[in-house]
Amino acid sequence: MIPDVVRYRQADLLAALHRRFGPVVRMGPYTYLLGPEANRFVFAHSELFEVERAFQSLVPVDGPTSLIVSDGEDHKRRRRFVQPALAHRQIASYVPVMRANAEATVGAWRPGETVDAYQEFRRAIRRSTIHALFGEELAQEADFFGAHLQVLINLIDRNPAVVTLLRTMRAPAWRNAMRARRAVDARVYRAIEETRQGKTAGDVLTSLVEGDGLSDLEVRDQIVTLIAAGYETTSGAMAWAVFNLLRHNGVWERAREDDDYLANVVNETLRLYPPAVVSARVATQEFEFAGKKIKQGTFLLYSPYVTHRLAEVFPDPLRFDPDRWEAKPAPHEFLPFGGGPHRCIGAGLATTVLTVMLKVLLQKPKPELLPQRLTPTGLAAMRPKNGLRIRAAG
Ligand code: HEM
Repeated sequence: MIPDVVRYRQADLLAALHRRFGPVVRMGPYTYLLGPEANRFVFAHSELFEVERAFQSLVPVDGPTSLIVSDGEDHKRRRRFVQPALAHRQIASYVPVMRANAEATVGAWRPGETVDAYQEFRRAIRRSTIHALFGEELAQEADFFGAHLQVLINLIDRNPAVVTLLRTMRAPAWRNAMRARRAVDARVYRAIEETRQGKTAGDVLTSLVEGDGLSDLEVRDQIVTLIAAGYETTSGAMAWAVFNLLRHNGVWERAREDDDYLANVVNETLRLYPPAVVSARVATQEFEFAGKKIKQGTFLLYSPYVTHRLAEVFPDPLRFDPDRWEAKPAPHEFLPFGGGPHRCIGAGLATTVLTVMLKVLLQKPKPELLPQRLTPTGLAAMRPKNGLRIRAAG
């Protein structure tokens, strides 16, 4: 029997430390700032923090000028170029592409067939994100990007100290990852070149190269970041949402009939299973929080997961209850997309992808959730380690 709520042991340990020691917990090289007040503090005092050193481990994939590792003026400038593609109105125009990709995926399941819903939707989300943001031509190579980016994602999924060691030793895992990166880069630089020459029309690539405000490296880094950040996290959330729809009595049936309820299912999924279990910052100066001194250079982590499972914020927190969304929590209480100036730029896109693809699934006969052990893994994109096995209706 699969439990009705899946627990992530590593993150639950963090919650236990929070209960025992309060909002500031020091552990090894990290200091955790935990709970709603800590979130509010981090989001409101961005001048005390930098992300460049905090997210260095993502540089092998996302590149040195990615939004995720940008601070200050560079961050503002780069974000201005990326923002229009992810604005509300723009997202609405991507819906047909999302729907078509979900239809193609779900439509290919044969009655009675067992499928891994995580991998299936991961592929659909990757293809649809690339298509929506960068056009049909690049979308045809979605599997090429997926295969090469996976080698890079596997590299940075390791402990950063191990990655440094692999790099220093030029170990095979590092060399394979760099080969994969060169393959991705060659394709992306070709697309940038074609766009600069006006060979391809419209879409996000055009707005990134427009006015020559960004260098080729900056454009490359934002493209790869949007692709990788776009499907890694969202596909984890999708798997948890499918799990919730199938695991709890009556939820599938209600969500099929009622769009508002489906929106609540998505929120409740992001509450219990926020793919970004933690997010990072480095202190740029000494400061005090909750009576504790934090030194300059301290590596800090705040945690959506810990906050989302606190009884004082969400009563009976482990209960999956979409109806609790009749009342809206504050931004420092519900933060699957972080907050402050670095709040996820793809939040609107992610919730739209999830909602549209779930709606397509809900129109099909209800699949069966097969008996399995669901083990969460990943701190930046929590997902079920061995996927999510379901059987298509016969
Ligand atoms: C369910 C899906 C997603 C989750 C849970 C998620 C979560 C997050 C979180 C927690 C942050 C860091 C915020 C902070 O530390 O304050 C972030 C940043 C970011 N996300 Fe997402 N994200 C998701 C989907 C996406 C999508 C679809 C895209 C783009 C297509 C995207 C692109 C980015 C970028 C570029 C940043 C860096 C923003 C900045 O530093 O200015 N994410 N995301």
